[in-house]
Amino acid sequence: MSENRLTITDERTGKQYQVQIQDGTIRANDLRQIKVSADDFGLMTYDPAYLNTASCRSSITYIDGDKGILRYRGYPIEQLAGTCTFLEVAYLLLNGELPNQEQLAAWETRVLRHTMLHETSKKFLENFRYDAHPMTMLISTLAAMSTVYPESKNIHDATNRQKQTIRLIAKMPTLSAYCYRHRLGLPYIYPDRDLSFTENFMNMMWRFMEPKYVANPILARALDVLFILHADHEQNCSTSTMRSVGSSQADPYLSMGAATAALSGPLHGGANEEVLRMLDHIGSKEAIPAFIKTVKDGHGKLMGFGHRVYKNFDPRAQIIKKTADEVFTVTGYNPKIEIARELERIALEDEYFIKRRLYPNVDFYSGIIYEAMGFRPDLFTVLFAIPRVVGWLAQWEEMVTDPEQKISRPRQIYTGYDERQFVPMEKRS
Ligand code: CMC
Repeated sequence: MSENRLTITDERTGKQYQVQIQDGTIRANDLRQIKVSADDFGLMTYDPAYLNTASCRSSITYIDGDKGILRYRGYPIEQLAGTCTFLEVAYLLLNGELPNQEQLAAWETRVLRHTMLHETSKKFLENFRYDAHPMTMLISTLAAMSTVYPESKNIHDATNRQKQTIRLIAKMPTLSAYCYRHRLGLPYIYPDRDLSFTENFMNMMWRFMEPKYVANPILARALDVLFILHADHEQNCSTSTMRSVGSSQADPYLSMGAATAALSGPLHGGANEEVLRMLDHIGSKEAIPAFIKTVKDGHGKLMGFGHRVYKNFDPRAQIIKKTADEVFTVTGYNPKIEIARELERIALEDEYFIKRRLYPNVDFYSGIIYEAMGFRPDLFTVLFAIPRVVGWLAQWEEMVTDPEQKISRPRQIYTGYDERQFVPMEKRS
């Protein structure tokens, strides 16, 4: 009869150990009993970049990378992106259940009521250079907002956590739009509560002299879909940063500043900006084979390709491709999509990419849509961050309330010197 146990024989000592298997994992700490002598520290696992280590139990997002499945709280991403609004999905991620009509209306009102930035937060932005990268402004200002809401340090109070959660979700589009307008020297536009979450963001980005901003419904819907696709993605680099920094009981503004910094890197959320720059660099369909060759020769990566978890296809990329066609009916065709499609076609037939199971990820097509909508490439990663705030906060809440979680603190394999005698200055060569 099969038992949920693993029997390990230590060939160094001949001793046998049994460790429990639960949910397809063993507890790394159970290996510590495996020793060669009484003063031995015990066996550890070595897993740089966490290729095969679960750091938490989570009921928020499910991914099956081989089958290309992504679900939030059990609901397939295709169904959510096809029918819901972003705030509806945000409610689901944070509360575990879809809201009914009344709950959704109350939630929307609550979020939109908090979209205004404190005037001092606006001043933080004004001190950046005129050409500061919006993502860097966002990271720093998020952390600085901790000074505006000092009560956020009380992370043990559920009501207080909820208040900060709403504030962060609501203020993120305002902050992002202000980072953009600062760069262009444009006056900041205050939020408009009559508009939906995404329409209001477009209003703060693009309104000029008109008394009331009217968003194009197809573009507003496309942005909603893109926000839904980016809302959470289980234990990725920025989410584990949010959990890791949050585990020290730092307040959510500081933890989120750190998570946003992790997102900004070109291997993570920063990839969408890099994809656009890469397409510009390639320039034409004819130049693609030569570019692919440079990638295969080890000179840079095909940005927007590959994923740690998805090894067949990224379901988000497939939805984004469809959304692109809808956006183009309004904005006109972005010719870069031709280069992107040809790049994808050639790469997917190439042995290098097939062997390594590299497919387009969420960032491959998103930039092309964002550019067609009028966003500049340096804002693309900010557009990733706005919805990901929801995922970070849902995961942070789960971490704070999980009795098994403690301060995050990995082990190491020490590879330095053994003890050495100190050398006085006059004797150093
Ligand atoms: N172009 C060319 N080669 C690649 C690429 C790529 N985009 N991605 C991976 N490889 C190669 C890599 O060099 C390695 O080759 P080899 O076995 O010969 O050494 C092999 O494929 C395995 O890659 P890896 O680096 O071990 O895979 P990883 O799981 O550590 O990295 C990744 C995942 C997403 C960081 C990586 O695929 C990558 O750098 N992609 C480009 C950046 C990108 O698009 N990032 C966005 C990720 S999706 C959005 C998000 O959630 O962040």
